[in-house]
Amino acid sequence: MFEEGILLKAKVGADKVYDLSLGNPIFEPPPKFMELLRSYVENPGVGLHRYMPNAGLSETRSAVAESLTNETGLTFSKEDIVMTCGAGGALNIIIKTLINPGDEIIVFAPYFAEYFFYADNHGGKCVVVEHDDKFMPKLSMLESLVTEKTKMVIINSPNNPSGVVYPTAVLTKLGQIIKKLETKYGRDIFIVSDEPYRKIIYKDDPYSHIYSAHSNTIVATSHSKDLGLAGERIGYVAVNPYHENKGEIIDGLTFSNRVLGFVNAPALIQHLVTNLQNETVNVEKYKQNRDFLWTQLTDIGYEVIKPEGAFYMFPKCPIQDDVQYVNKLRENNVLVVPGSGFGSPGYFRISYCVDENTLQGCIDGFRKVFLDHT
Ligand SMILES: Cc1ncc(COP(=O)(O)O)c(C=O)c1O
Repeated sequence: MFEEGILLKAKVGADKVYDLSLGNPIFEPPPKFMELLRSYVENPGVGLHRYMPNAGLSETRSAVAESLTNETGLTFSKEDIVMTCGAGGALNIIIKTLINPGDEIIVFAPYFAEYFFYADNHGGKCVVVEHDDKFMPKLSMLESLVTEKTKMVIINSPNNPSGVVYPTAVLTKLGQIIKKLETKYGRDIFIVSDEPYRKIIYKDDPYSHIYSAHSNTIVATSHSKDLGLAGERIGYVAVNPYHENKGEIIDGLTFSNRVLGFVNAPALIQHLVTNLQNETVNVEKYKQNRDFLWTQLTDIGYEVIKPEGAFYMFPKCPIQDDVQYVNKLRENNVLVVPGSGFGSPGYFRISYCVDENTLQGCIDGFRKVFLDHT
């Protein structure tokens, strides 16, 4: 989509292409990031750019643990944290640590398509649980899809592409089912929660954390979206602090960071995020974009679940074939992504982390194509 957008912009002019296909944050990192960066450039100290322990800087892991303790009410220590190259790096070291070739990973549609490639990197195979019409997982399918090869379930809330946030009731139910299946198969099944949008939520209710649903829980996250640092590749894994074998898991994750060639998360950025754990980009602006777009699209006649987090919307196509519909939108210079790529044909994904020109300018195209197909 990235490449296609560039080609179309070169053909018709950048200001006439409304590219809502990418999850690339539009906001600059919080001002404190630049202040800290400046201070490290002026006073780098000794050894700032050297190798470090594969799990990351001790002070960064401690800062993350302290922030998670405040957020969750559970007691984290730095021994529960491994700093990573983004959430993508985090998921890869988790999968490398937990699965053997041939093992299976359950994912919930609509899903982040990279899970399939990450699983494949380590010889794993993804198995899909479908969603209901509110994009909640059909948990009743789990019983028949989990096999003796299932090692983990990956969940993603707030969700890319639907923007839904899983409520506590769904997580609790998931935990109960997984515990039952662990007893049935006599071994661990981990719930891995992929949370790069955890701090981009629009309701006042606190975020529902996975940890209390089950002890076999591991969080993968990053500062790509909440601090606007996607290109800097910084994130972390946080293992449930009450897991009885957490030391062994952390050792596996640390070793995987090394042998997958990440070695450690970037040094300078680890120093910076140590002091940025309580900062977030301006979520209010994303909320305004959501409200504008959701109102416009539903006025036109689109069926859209109002997102509660992240910066994506997942409208239903008025026709069956989402690829055809997305092509029609592209002919009208509006770029979005077909739902089939997320395991949900019949929908398309809009990213509303876009500038004002794109947000306002796309509406005519969405209206025209809708009216042409209804
Ligand atoms: C659901 C989800 N998980 C993981 C990632 C990877 O994020 P990162 O840039 O932190 O590797 C993304 C990025 O868009 C995402 O949407």
